[in-house]
Amino acid sequence: MSAKVHNVGILAMELYFPSQYVDQVDLEKFDEVGTGKYTIGLGQSKMGFCSDREDINSICMTALHRLIEKNDINLHDIGRLEVGTETIIDKSKSVKTFLMTLFAKEGATDIEGIDSTNACYGGTAALFNAINWVESSSWDGRKAIVVAGDIAVYGKGPARPTGGAGAVAMLIGPDAPLVFDCGVRASYMTHAYDFYKPDLASEFPYVDGKLSIKCYLSALDNCYNLFCKKMRKENPDFKGLLSLDGMLFHSPYCKLVQKSLGRVCFNDFLNASSAEREKQFPGLSQFNNHKREETYFDRDLEKAFLTYSEKLFNEKTKPSLHVARNVGNMYTPSLYGGLVSYLVSKSPDQLIGKKFALFSYGSGLASTMYSINICKDMSVGSKLERLINSLNETVGMLNKRQCVEPQVFSDLMDVRTQNYHTAPYEPSGPTDVLFPGTYYLVRIDEQRRRTYERKL
Ligand code: ACO
Repeated sequence: MSAKVHNVGILAMELYFPSQYVDQVDLEKFDEVGTGKYTIGLGQSKMGFCSDREDINSICMTALHRLIEKNDINLHDIGRLEVGTETIIDKSKSVKTFLMTLFAKEGATDIEGIDSTNACYGGTAALFNAINWVESSSWDGRKAIVVAGDIAVYGKGPARPTGGAGAVAMLIGPDAPLVFDCGVRASYMTHAYDFYKPDLASEFPYVDGKLSIKCYLSALDNCYNLFCKKMRKENPDFKGLLSLDGMLFHSPYCKLVQKSLGRVCFNDFLNASSAEREKQFPGLSQFNNHKREETYFDRDLEKAFLTYSEKLFNEKTKPSLHVARNVGNMYTPSLYGGLVSYLVSKSPDQLIGKKFALFSYGSGLASTMYSINICKDMSVGSKLERLINSLNETVGMLNKRQCVEPQVFSDLMDVRTQNYHTAPYEPSGPTDVLFPGTYYLVRIDEQRRRTYERKL
Protein backbone atom coordinates (compact mmCIF):
# COMPACT_ATOMS: atom_id res chain seq x y z
CA MET A 1 0.00 0.00 0.00
CA SER A 2 2.28 2.79 -1.20
CA ALA A 3 -0.19 4.97 -3.17
CA LYS A 4 -0.04 8.62 -2.12
CA VAL A 5 -2.79 9.42 0.34
CA HIS A 6 -4.58 12.76 0.45
CA ASN A 7 -6.05 14.92 3.14
CA VAL A 8 -4.80 12.94 6.12
CA GLY A 9 -6.32 14.09 9.36
CA ILE A 10 -9.13 13.69 11.86
CA LEU A 11 -12.18 11.78 10.62
CA ALA A 12 -14.08 11.58 13.90
CA MET A 13 -13.60 12.63 17.52
CA GLU A 14 -15.01 11.94 20.95
CA LEU A 15 -14.39 13.67 24.27
CA TYR A 16 -14.95 12.37 27.78
CA PHE A 17 -15.03 14.53 30.91
CA PRO A 18 -16.07 13.44 34.41
CA SER A 19 -19.70 13.67 35.51
CA GLN A 20 -18.85 15.67 38.65
CA TYR A 21 -17.36 19.11 39.03
CA VAL A 22 -16.62 21.71 41.65
CA ASP A 23 -17.56 25.32 41.01
CA GLN A 24 -14.58 27.71 41.10
CA VAL A 25 -16.62 30.39 42.93
CA ASP A 26 -17.31 27.88 45.71
CA LEU A 27 -13.67 26.80 45.65
CA GLU A 28 -12.47 30.39 46.10
CA LYS A 29 -14.55 30.63 49.30
CA PHE A 30 -13.49 27.19 50.51
CA ASP A 31 -9.79 27.94 49.92
CA GLU A 32 -10.23 31.40 51.51
CA VAL A 33 -8.58 33.22 48.61
CA GLY A 34 -9.72 36.60 47.28
CA THR A 35 -13.03 36.57 45.42
CA GLY A 36 -12.24 36.39 41.71
CA LYS A 37 -8.81 34.77 42.00
CA TYR A 38 -9.80 31.54 40.25
CA THR A 39 -12.68 32.88 38.14
CA ILE A 40 -11.14 36.16 36.93
CA GLY A 41 -7.45 35.75 37.76
CA LEU A 42 -7.23 32.25 36.22
CA GLY A 43 -10.34 32.56 34.03
CA GLN A 44 -11.81 29.24 35.20
CA SER A 45 -15.45 28.48 35.88
CA LYS A 46 -15.72 24.79 36.83
CA MET A 47 -13.29 21.95 37.46
CA GLY A 48 -14.07 18.35 36.57
CA PHE A 49 -12.63 15.61 38.75
CA CYS A 50 -12.76 11.84 39.22
CA SER A 51 -13.24 9.90 42.42
CA ASP A 52 -11.20 6.73 43.06
CA ARG A 53 -13.70 4.93 40.78
CA GLU A 54 -11.88 6.18 37.69
CA ASP A 55 -8.28 5.91 36.59
CA ILE A 56 -6.35 6.46 33.38
CA ASN A 57 -7.34 3.10 31.89
CA SER A 58 -11.03 3.64 32.57
CA ILE A 59 -11.28 7.20 31.23
CA CYS A 60 -9.37 6.31 28.04
CA MET A 61 -11.55 3.23 27.59
CA THR A 62 -14.70 5.35 28.01
CA ALA A 63 -13.60 7.81 25.30
CA LEU A 64 -12.46 5.01 22.97
CA HIS A 65 -15.63 2.94 23.37
CA ARG A 66 -17.77 6.02 22.68
CA LEU A 67 -15.79 6.83 19.52
CA ILE A 68 -16.16 3.26 18.25
CA GLU A 69 -19.83 3.02 19.13
CA LYS A 70 -20.93 6.39 17.80
CA ASN A 71 -19.04 5.98 14.53
CA ASP A 72 -19.77 2.30 14.06
CA ILE A 73 -16.07 1.56 13.57
CA ASN A 74 -15.08 -1.89 12.37
CA LEU A 75 -12.24 -2.84 14.73
CA HIS A 76 -10.51 -4.86 11.99
CA ASP A 77 -10.23 -1.59 10.04
CA ILE A 78 -7.88 -0.13 12.71
CA GLY A 79 -4.15 -0.73 12.18
CA ARG A 80 -2.73 1.62 14.78
CA LEU A 81 -3.75 2.68 18.28
CA GLU A 82 -1.70 5.38 19.97
CA VAL A 83 -2.10 6.71 23.50
CA GLY A 84 -0.81 9.96 24.99
CA THR A 85 -0.85 10.36 28.75
CA GLU A 86 1.19 11.52 31.73
CA THR A 87 -1.01 9.68 34.24
CA ILE A 88 1.22 6.72 34.98
CA ILE A 89 -0.18 3.82 37.02
CA ASP A 90 2.25 1.21 35.75
CA LYS A 91 5.92 1.64 34.88
CA SER A 92 5.78 -1.14 32.31
CA LYS A 93 2.31 -1.98 31.07
CA SER A 94 0.93 0.64 28.72
CA VAL A 95 -2.59 2.04 28.71
CA LYS A 96 -2.71 0.98 25.06
CA THR A 97 -2.44 -2.68 26.04
CA PHE A 98 -5.37 -2.25 28.37
CA LEU A 99 -7.42 -0.62 25.58
CA MET A 100 -6.68 -3.71 23.48
CA THR A 101 -9.28 -5.61 25.56
CA LEU A 102 -11.92 -4.00 23.34
CA PHE A 103 -10.15 -5.06 20.14
CA ALA A 104 -9.02 -8.49 21.27
CA LYS A 105 -12.65 -9.41 22.01
CA GLU A 106 -13.25 -9.09 18.28
CA GLY A 107 -10.05 -10.93 17.38
CA ALA A 108 -8.37 -7.70 16.22
CA THR A 109 -4.80 -7.85 17.50
CA ASP A 110 -2.67 -6.69 14.53
CA ILE A 111 -2.50 -3.13 15.83
CA GLU A 112 0.70 -1.08 16.15
CA GLY A 113 1.31 1.83 18.52
CA ILE A 114 2.02 2.30 22.22
CA ASP A 115 1.95 5.11 24.84
CA SER A 116 3.75 8.45 24.50
CA THR A 117 4.60 10.47 27.59
CA ASN A 118 5.83 13.98 28.20
CA ALA A 119 3.49 16.02 30.40
CA CYS A 120 0.66 17.59 28.38
CA TYR A 121 2.43 16.94 25.05
CA GLY A 122 1.96 13.14 24.87
CA GLY A 123 -1.39 13.42 23.04
CA THR A 124 0.18 15.50 20.29
CA ALA A 125 3.11 13.07 19.99
CA ALA A 126 0.62 10.20 19.68
CA LEU A 127 -1.37 12.13 17.08
CA PHE A 128 1.74 12.89 15.01
CA ASN A 129 2.70 9.19 15.16
CA ALA A 130 -0.70 8.27 13.74
CA ILE A 131 -0.63 10.93 11.00
CA ASN A 132 2.95 9.98 10.08
CA TRP A 133 2.01 6.29 9.85
CA VAL A 134 -0.88 6.95 7.47
CA GLU A 135 1.44 9.10 5.31
CA SER A 136 4.28 6.54 5.40
CA SER A 137 5.38 3.53 3.36
CA SER A 138 4.43 1.31 6.34
CA TRP A 139 0.77 2.17 6.01
CA ASP A 140 -1.46 -0.79 5.14
CA GLY A 141 -4.62 1.11 4.25
CA ARG A 142 -6.32 0.90 7.66
CA LYS A 143 -7.16 3.79 9.97
CA ALA A 144 -5.53 4.82 13.23
CA ILE A 145 -7.03 5.82 16.56
CA VAL A 146 -5.39 8.22 19.00
CA VAL A 147 -6.49 8.38 22.63
CA ALA A 148 -5.18 11.08 24.97
CA GLY A 149 -6.26 11.17 28.58
CA ASP A 150 -5.23 12.41 32.00
CA ILE A 151 -6.38 12.93 35.54
CA ALA A 152 -4.84 16.27 36.47
CA VAL A 153 -4.65 16.63 40.22
CA TYR A 154 -2.52 18.86 42.42
CA GLY A 155 -1.85 18.83 46.15
CA LYS A 156 -3.62 21.40 48.32
CA GLY A 157 -2.40 24.90 47.45
CA PRO A 158 -2.37 27.41 44.61
CA ALA A 159 -2.08 24.88 41.78
CA ARG A 160 -5.10 22.80 42.85
CA PRO A 161 -7.73 25.00 41.06
CA THR A 162 -5.86 24.38 37.78
CA GLY A 163 -6.66 20.65 37.83
CA GLY A 164 -9.15 18.78 35.66
CA ALA A 165 -9.62 15.41 33.97
CA GLY A 166 -10.70 13.99 30.63
CA ALA A 167 -9.91 11.94 27.57
CA VAL A 168 -10.21 12.41 23.85
CA ALA A 169 -10.34 9.76 21.13
CA MET A 170 -9.69 10.60 17.47
CA LEU A 171 -10.07 8.52 14.32
CA ILE A 172 -7.25 9.27 11.86
CA GLY A 173 -7.10 8.53 8.16
CA PRO A 174 -7.12 9.93 4.62
CA ASP A 175 -9.93 12.01 3.06
CA ALA A 176 -10.61 13.63 6.40
CA PRO A 177 -12.60 16.80 7.06
CA LEU A 178 -9.84 18.12 9.40
CA VAL A 179 -6.62 18.01 7.38
CA PHE A 180 -3.10 18.47 8.79
CA ASP A 181 -0.81 20.85 6.88
CA CYS A 182 2.38 19.11 5.75
CA GLY A 183 5.91 20.38 6.38
CA VAL A 184 5.08 23.32 8.65
CA ARG A 185 5.06 21.82 12.13
CA ALA A 186 7.33 23.93 14.30
CA SER A 187 8.73 22.46 17.51
CA TYR A 188 10.67 23.77 20.47
CA MET A 189 12.06 21.20 22.86
CA THR A 190 14.50 21.76 25.69
CA HIS A 191 15.17 20.83 29.30
CA ALA A 192 13.34 22.57 32.15
CA TYR A 193 12.22 21.61 35.65
CA ASP A 194 9.00 23.62 35.49
CA PHE A 195 6.52 20.80 36.19
CA TYR A 196 7.54 17.18 36.65
CA LYS A 197 6.56 14.02 38.51
CA PRO A 198 9.69 12.46 40.02
CA ASP A 199 7.86 11.04 43.05
CA LEU A 200 6.42 7.79 41.75
CA ALA A 201 4.63 7.21 45.05
CA SER A 202 2.48 10.30 44.52
CA GLU A 203 -0.09 11.34 41.94
CA PHE A 204 0.91 15.00 42.33
CA PRO A 205 3.53 16.87 40.31
CA TYR A 206 6.30 19.13 41.54
CA VAL A 207 5.45 22.55 40.09
CA ASP A 208 7.37 25.78 39.82
CA GLY A 209 4.33 27.82 38.80
CA LYS A 210 6.13 30.99 37.68
CA LEU A 211 8.76 29.05 35.75
CA SER A 212 6.06 26.96 34.06
CA ILE A 213 4.41 30.15 32.78
CA LYS A 214 7.72 31.51 31.53
CA CYS A 215 8.54 28.19 29.83
CA TYR A 216 5.08 28.05 28.21
CA LEU A 217 5.36 31.60 26.83
CA SER A 218 8.93 31.16 25.68
CA ALA A 219 7.99 27.89 23.91
CA LEU A 220 5.12 29.78 22.28
CA ASP A 221 7.46 32.54 21.04
CA ASN A 222 9.81 29.97 19.53
CA CYS A 223 7.13 27.77 17.95
CA TYR A 224 5.11 30.69 16.56
CA ASN A 225 8.08 32.37 14.89
CA LEU A 226 9.34 29.14 13.38
CA PHE A 227 5.82 28.17 12.27
CA CYS A 228 5.40 31.55 10.50
CA LYS A 229 8.78 31.10 8.80
CA LYS A 230 7.81 27.63 7.55
CA MET A 231 4.36 28.85 6.44
CA ARG A 232 5.93 31.73 4.51
CA LYS A 233 8.09 29.25 2.60
CA GLU A 234 4.86 27.64 1.39
CA ASN A 235 3.02 30.91 0.97
CA PRO A 236 5.01 34.19 0.96
CA ASP A 237 1.80 36.12 1.69
CA PHE A 238 1.27 34.35 5.02
CA LYS A 239 0.76 37.06 7.65
CA GLY A 240 0.80 35.02 10.87
CA LEU A 241 -2.24 35.44 13.08
CA LEU A 242 -4.00 37.62 10.51
CA SER A 243 -3.89 34.78 7.96
CA LEU A 244 -5.42 32.31 10.40
CA ASP A 245 -9.10 31.90 11.21
CA GLY A 246 -8.38 30.41 14.60
CA MET A 247 -5.53 30.05 17.06
CA LEU A 248 -5.89 27.28 19.63
CA PHE A 249 -3.69 26.63 22.66
CA HIS A 250 -3.05 24.02 25.30
CA SER A 251 -4.97 25.51 28.21
CA PRO A 252 -3.54 25.12 31.72
CA TYR A 253 -6.11 27.83 32.63
CA CYS A 254 -7.97 30.19 30.32
CA LYS A 255 -6.29 33.42 31.42
CA LEU A 256 -2.92 32.09 30.27
CA VAL A 257 -4.42 31.37 26.87
CA GLN A 258 -5.75 34.91 26.57
CA LYS A 259 -2.32 36.23 27.55
CA SER A 260 -0.80 33.91 24.95
CA LEU A 261 -2.81 35.46 22.15
CA GLY A 262 -1.55 38.85 23.32
CA ARG A 263 1.93 37.37 23.22
CA VAL A 264 1.42 36.22 19.61
CA CYS A 265 0.49 39.83 18.74
CA PHE A 266 3.64 41.04 20.51
CA ASN A 267 5.65 38.69 18.30
CA ASP A 268 3.90 40.04 15.19
CA PHE A 269 4.70 43.54 16.46
CA LEU A 270 8.40 42.73 16.92
CA ASN A 271 8.55 41.14 13.46
CA ALA A 272 6.86 44.08 11.71
CA SER A 273 8.74 46.86 9.91
CA SER A 274 8.47 50.32 11.50
CA ALA A 275 5.95 51.39 8.85
CA GLU A 276 3.84 48.30 9.52
CA ARG A 277 4.09 48.89 13.27
CA GLU A 278 2.69 52.40 12.97
CA LYS A 279 -0.18 51.21 10.81
CA GLN A 280 -1.04 47.94 12.47
CA PHE A 281 -0.06 48.64 16.08
CA PRO A 282 -0.93 52.28 16.82
CA GLY A 283 -0.04 53.54 20.31
CA LEU A 284 2.39 50.70 21.09
CA SER A 285 5.63 52.41 20.08
CA GLN A 286 6.91 52.46 23.69
CA PHE A 287 7.54 48.73 23.28
CA ASN A 288 9.68 49.12 20.14
CA ASN A 289 12.90 48.13 21.88
CA HIS A 290 11.55 45.48 24.22
CA LYS A 291 13.12 42.04 23.96
CA ARG A 292 11.13 38.83 23.96
CA GLU A 293 13.16 37.10 26.66
CA GLU A 294 12.96 40.05 29.08
CA THR A 295 9.20 40.53 28.91
CA TYR A 296 7.54 37.39 30.23
CA PHE A 297 6.34 39.16 33.35
CA ASP A 298 6.29 42.76 32.06
CA ARG A 299 2.90 43.94 33.33
CA ASP A 300 2.64 47.05 31.15
CA LEU A 301 3.46 45.16 28.00
CA GLU A 302 1.13 42.29 28.90
CA LYS A 303 -1.73 44.70 29.56
CA ALA A 304 -1.13 46.69 26.37
CA PHE A 305 -1.12 43.58 24.16
CA LEU A 306 -4.09 42.06 26.01
CA THR A 307 -6.04 45.21 25.14
CA TYR A 308 -4.71 45.27 21.57
CA SER A 309 -5.62 41.61 20.99
CA GLU A 310 -9.05 41.60 22.63
CA LYS A 311 -11.04 41.57 19.38
CA LEU A 312 -8.72 38.99 17.81
CA PHE A 313 -9.01 36.86 20.94
CA ASN A 314 -12.81 36.98 20.86
CA GLU A 315 -12.81 35.99 17.21
CA LYS A 316 -9.98 33.46 16.91
CA THR A 317 -9.40 31.91 20.33
CA LYS A 318 -12.22 32.42 22.82
CA PRO A 319 -14.56 29.95 21.03
CA SER A 320 -11.97 27.24 21.76
CA LEU A 321 -12.09 27.72 25.53
CA HIS A 322 -15.56 26.44 26.42
CA VAL A 323 -14.46 22.98 27.57
CA ALA A 324 -11.27 24.27 29.22
CA ARG A 325 -13.20 26.85 31.24
CA ASN A 326 -15.75 24.27 32.37
CA VAL A 327 -13.57 21.22 32.94
CA GLY A 328 -10.11 22.64 33.70
CA ASN A 329 -6.74 21.45 32.53
CA MET A 330 -7.14 17.92 31.18
CA TYR A 331 -3.37 17.82 30.39
CA THR A 332 -2.88 15.78 27.16
CA PRO A 333 -6.46 16.24 25.87
CA SER A 334 -6.56 19.95 26.78
CA LEU A 335 -5.66 21.22 23.30
CA TYR A 336 -8.09 18.75 21.75
CA GLY A 337 -10.86 19.91 24.08
CA GLY A 338 -10.00 23.30 22.55
CA LEU A 339 -10.46 21.88 19.07
CA VAL A 340 -13.81 20.35 20.07
CA SER A 341 -14.97 23.67 21.55
CA TYR A 342 -13.91 25.58 18.46
CA LEU A 343 -15.71 23.15 16.13
CA VAL A 344 -19.00 23.20 18.02
CA SER A 345 -18.96 27.01 18.18
CA LYS A 346 -19.67 27.16 14.43
CA SER A 347 -21.86 25.51 11.81
CA PRO A 348 -20.24 23.22 9.20
CA ASP A 349 -20.84 25.92 6.56
CA GLN A 350 -18.93 28.47 8.62
CA LEU A 351 -16.04 26.05 9.05
CA ILE A 352 -15.45 24.88 5.47
CA GLY A 353 -12.12 26.21 4.15
CA LYS A 354 -10.98 27.61 7.51
CA LYS A 355 -7.38 27.32 8.68
CA PHE A 356 -6.25 27.38 12.29
CA ALA A 357 -3.05 26.90 14.23
CA LEU A 358 -2.71 24.77 17.36
CA PHE A 359 -0.07 25.17 20.05
CA SER A 360 0.74 22.08 22.10
CA TYR A 361 2.84 22.45 25.25
CA GLY A 362 4.11 19.84 27.69
CA SER A 363 6.31 20.83 30.60
CA GLY A 364 9.79 19.57 30.86
CA LEU A 365 9.56 20.67 27.94
CA ALA A 366 8.18 19.71 24.55
CA SER A 367 6.08 21.97 22.33
CA THR A 368 4.87 22.23 18.75
CA MET A 369 2.73 24.59 16.69
CA TYR A 370 0.97 23.04 13.71
CA SER A 371 -2.05 23.80 11.55
CA ILE A 372 -5.26 22.19 10.44
CA ASN A 373 -7.47 23.07 7.47
CA ILE A 374 -11.13 22.27 7.21
CA CYS A 375 -11.31 20.50 3.87
CA LYS A 376 -13.05 22.47 1.11
CA ASP A 377 -13.82 19.29 -0.81
CA MET A 378 -17.61 19.01 -0.66
CA SER A 379 -17.43 15.21 -0.58
CA VAL A 380 -16.22 15.41 3.04
CA GLY A 381 -19.01 17.85 3.99
CA SER A 382 -21.21 15.10 5.38
CA LYS A 383 -18.28 13.73 7.47
CA LEU A 384 -17.77 17.19 8.95
CA GLU A 385 -21.44 17.55 9.73
CA ARG A 386 -21.55 14.14 11.41
CA LEU A 387 -18.43 14.99 13.43
CA ILE A 388 -19.87 18.29 14.63
CA ASN A 389 -23.30 16.85 15.44
CA SER A 390 -21.67 14.13 17.49
CA LEU A 391 -19.46 16.62 19.34
CA ASN A 392 -22.43 18.91 20.03
CA GLU A 393 -24.13 16.02 21.76
CA THR A 394 -20.99 15.38 23.84
CA VAL A 395 -20.41 19.01 24.81
CA GLY A 396 -24.09 19.26 25.81
CA MET A 397 -23.28 16.74 28.57
CA LEU A 398 -21.36 19.50 30.39
CA ASN A 399 -24.78 20.70 31.57
CA LYS A 400 -25.75 17.25 32.81
CA ARG A 401 -22.93 17.03 35.31
CA GLN A 402 -23.37 17.09 39.06
CA CYS A 403 -21.96 20.03 41.05
CA VAL A 404 -20.42 18.99 44.37
CA GLU A 405 -19.38 21.03 47.37
CA PRO A 406 -15.64 21.77 47.66
CA GLN A 407 -15.56 19.78 50.92
CA VAL A 408 -16.81 16.67 49.07
CA PHE A 409 -14.25 17.28 46.31
CA SER A 410 -11.48 17.74 48.88
CA ASP A 411 -12.49 14.54 50.71
CA LEU A 412 -12.51 12.57 47.45
CA MET A 413 -9.04 13.94 46.65
CA ASP A 414 -7.87 12.78 50.09
CA VAL A 415 -9.23 9.29 49.40
CA ARG A 416 -7.34 9.20 46.08
CA THR A 417 -4.15 10.41 47.78
CA GLN A 418 -4.32 8.01 50.72
CA ASN A 419 -4.99 5.00 48.52
CA TYR A 420 -2.77 5.83 45.57
CA HIS A 421 -0.63 2.75 46.13
CA THR A 422 -2.91 0.54 48.19
CA ALA A 423 -3.43 -3.06 47.11
CA PRO A 424 -5.66 -4.94 47.36
CA TYR A 425 -8.15 -2.09 47.05
CA GLU A 426 -11.87 -1.63 46.49
CA PRO A 427 -12.77 1.93 45.46
CA SER A 428 -15.45 3.69 47.48
CA GLY A 429 -16.45 6.45 44.99
CA PRO A 430 -20.10 6.36 43.88
CA THR A 431 -21.03 4.77 40.55
CA ASP A 432 -24.56 6.16 40.34
CA VAL A 433 -23.24 9.62 39.39
CA LEU A 434 -21.26 8.31 36.39
CA PHE A 435 -22.58 8.96 32.88
CA PRO A 436 -24.01 5.88 31.14
CA GLY A 437 -21.25 4.14 29.18
CA THR A 438 -18.52 5.11 31.67
CA TYR A 439 -15.95 2.49 32.59
CA TYR A 440 -15.09 2.30 36.28
CA LEU A 441 -12.64 0.53 38.51
CA VAL A 442 -14.12 -2.37 40.46
CA ARG A 443 -11.05 -3.59 42.32
CA ILE A 444 -7.27 -3.83 42.44
CA ASP A 445 -6.17 -7.29 43.56
CA GLU A 446 -3.11 -8.40 45.58
CA GLN A 447 -1.11 -8.62 42.36
CA ARG A 448 -2.20 -5.03 41.55
CA ARG A 449 -4.25 -6.21 38.59
CA ARG A 450 -7.17 -3.91 37.87
CA THR A 451 -10.73 -4.97 37.01
CA TYR A 452 -13.27 -2.68 35.38
CA GLU A 453 -16.94 -2.61 34.49
CA ARG A 454 -18.94 -0.37 32.22
CA LYS A 455 -21.95 1.49 33.55
CA LEU A 456 -25.06 0.72 31.51
N1 ACO B 1 -9.37 38.77 41.76
C1 ACO B 1 -8.92 38.70 40.47
N2 ACO B 1 -7.69 38.25 40.14
C2 ACO B 1 -6.90 37.82 41.15
C3 ACO B 1 -7.30 37.87 42.50
C4 ACO B 1 -8.60 38.36 42.79
N3 ACO B 1 -9.08 38.40 44.03
N4 ACO B 1 -6.29 37.39 43.25
C5 ACO B 1 -5.28 37.07 42.41
N5 ACO B 1 -5.66 37.32 41.15
C6 ACO B 1 -4.90 37.10 39.92
C7 ACO B 1 -3.43 37.39 40.07
O1 ACO B 1 -3.16 38.77 39.89
C8 ACO B 1 -2.85 36.52 38.98
O2 ACO B 1 -3.04 37.19 37.75
P1 ACO B 1 -1.78 37.34 36.75
O3 ACO B 1 -1.44 35.92 36.31
O4 ACO B 1 -2.32 38.17 35.67
O5 ACO B 1 -0.69 37.93 37.54
C9 ACO B 1 -3.78 35.30 38.97
O6 ACO B 1 -4.95 35.70 39.65
C10 ACO B 1 -3.19 34.12 39.70
O7 ACO B 1 -2.77 34.57 40.96
P2 ACO B 1 -1.29 34.27 41.49
O8 ACO B 1 -1.18 34.82 42.86
O9 ACO B 1 -0.27 34.65 40.48
O10 ACO B 1 -1.43 32.71 41.50
P3 ACO B 1 -0.69 31.63 42.31
O11 ACO B 1 0.73 31.89 42.47
O12 ACO B 1 -1.48 31.41 43.53
O13 ACO B 1 -0.85 30.36 41.27
C11 ACO B 1 -0.39 29.33 39.15
C12 ACO B 1 -1.08 30.47 39.88
C13 ACO B 1 1.11 29.56 39.17
C14 ACO B 1 -0.88 29.26 37.72
C15 ACO B 1 -0.72 28.01 39.89
O14 ACO B 1 -2.10 27.77 39.84
C16 ACO B 1 0.00 26.80 39.32
O15 ACO B 1 1.13 26.53 39.67
N6 ACO B 1 -0.68 26.01 38.43
C17 ACO B 1 -0.08 24.81 37.82
C18 ACO B 1 0.99 25.13 36.81
C19 ACO B 1 0.48 25.62 35.48
O16 ACO B 1 -0.69 25.44 35.15
N7 ACO B 1 1.38 26.20 34.66
C20 ACO B 1 1.06 26.62 33.33
C21 ACO B 1 1.83 25.92 32.21
S1 ACO B 1 2.33 24.28 32.59
C22 ACO B 1 0.98 23.21 32.54
O17 ACO B 1 0.21 23.17 31.62
C23 ACO B 1 0.74 22.33 33.71
